[in-house]
Amino acid sequence: MHPNLWYPYTQAKTAPEPLKIKSAQGIWLQLEDDRQIMDCISSWWVNLHGHAHPKIAEAIYQQAKTLEQVIFAGFTHDPAEQLAEKLVSKFPTGLTRVFYSDNGSTAVEVALKMAYQYWINLGQKRSTFLAFEGAYHGDTFGAMSAGKSLFTEAFTDLLFDVDYLPFPETYIDDRSAIEREQQILASLEKKLSQDGDRYAGFILEPLVQGASGMRMCRPEFLQNLCCIAQRFNLLVIFDEVMTGFGRTGEWFACAKTSIQPDIICLSKGLTGGFLPMAVTACSEQIYDAFYSDNPAKTLYHGHSYAANPLGCAAALASFELTQSSEPIFRGMEANHTEYLAKFKTHPKVEKIRVAGTIAAMDLVTTHEPGYLNTISLDIRQKAIAKGLLLRPLGNVLYLMPPYCIADEELAIVYQGIEEILNDLSTVA
Ligand SMILES: Cc1ncc(COP(=O)(O)O)c(C=O)c1O
Repeated sequence: MHPNLWYPYTQAKTAPEPLKIKSAQGIWLQLEDDRQIMDCISSWWVNLHGHAHPKIAEAIYQQAKTLEQVIFAGFTHDPAEQLAEKLVSKFPTGLTRVFYSDNGSTAVEVALKMAYQYWINLGQKRSTFLAFEGAYHGDTFGAMSAGKSLFTEAFTDLLFDVDYLPFPETYIDDRSAIEREQQILASLEKKLSQDGDRYAGFILEPLVQGASGMRMCRPEFLQNLCCIAQRFNLLVIFDEVMTGFGRTGEWFACAKTSIQPDIICLSKGLTGGFLPMAVTACSEQIYDAFYSDNPAKTLYHGHSYAANPLGCAAALASFELTQSSEPIFRGMEANHTEYLAKFKTHPKVEKIRVAGTIAAMDLVTTHEPGYLNTISLDIRQKAIAKGLLLRPLGNVLYLMPPYCIADEELAIVYQGIEEILNDLSTVA
């Protein structure tokens, strides 16, 4: 490890040396020692169009020569306005106001603050939120409160109370999902009829819970859930930081589920993986609750780099590329499904699932399943030896490739996975 660096999500004492990357192009990472690695997970789920796409690089360069940064309070600029218009054109009707920040966690913080203050501004105090067990919404304090897990354990005393519902994860050929869903919906209905006014909103990762292991639920469940939540006036917050921009096979999971959330959070794919940037978009109804002569009703939140013009330029270029990638992200689920069929009878694989461009499977393990399962490290190393970047979440192996992956490359990835699984002598 470099003596002056502290790496994220890394236990330096036990982690292997990080690999040094010299450059990257498309789906390929070039290592310092000249090996090439195929990025099968779009790095940390950000590079929609692969690495170093020339159109995004050029857009940033042109923008940097014109306006690199300006305070976004009291000033505005074309890239921010154009990007907001483009995004709104793809949102369900009703999501019309775009607030900029700079990473997924801050997009969530803003959403929680908007929802909480919305009720204060209307003269009601709603003291908490609902969320799903297994949620991950980021590493800042509000986001951690809405996604308590192993990662947040050390901070438990500092987090605010959030009520959790079980998440009805499902997979191909699962027969128990509908019954579990009904129980969850019934308990939600009961909770809200007794105590609905306690909750400012319901925050969730729609269709796919990412960090807790690519856990997927059925769109019909979400539709029913949001219907109940909105009937009791909870603000529905879709954290689409991961699912946004085609990941679930549609531009946004809210479009795929035909749900109209009150707030949506975006980041990761927003700039195509070039620059840190985030968006929290909300309805006019929420915006109106802050629109006032009373200074106390202002949303006092902002970041130094809010609406950074370089980020906006990258996002505009990425938006165009995403538009031309529609057939790819709409079609990738069928490709995954075809390859995954082969693993259905594999003795080391269970709970195969797919949502758009995201494919996942659980690896059968005799040890505790979950993030700390050591099979992850074994697979990571075996994958690197085969020229693949895979980073299982514990015993969950998943793929989330950039949209530029060629058919032959996807075939190589699945071939590699099969070899790795066959090679696991004993499953951890
Ligand atoms: C659904 C979701 N929300 C929020 C975040 C936090 O985003 P960031 O890492 O940019 O803070 C993530 C990151 O993985 C995520 O998957």
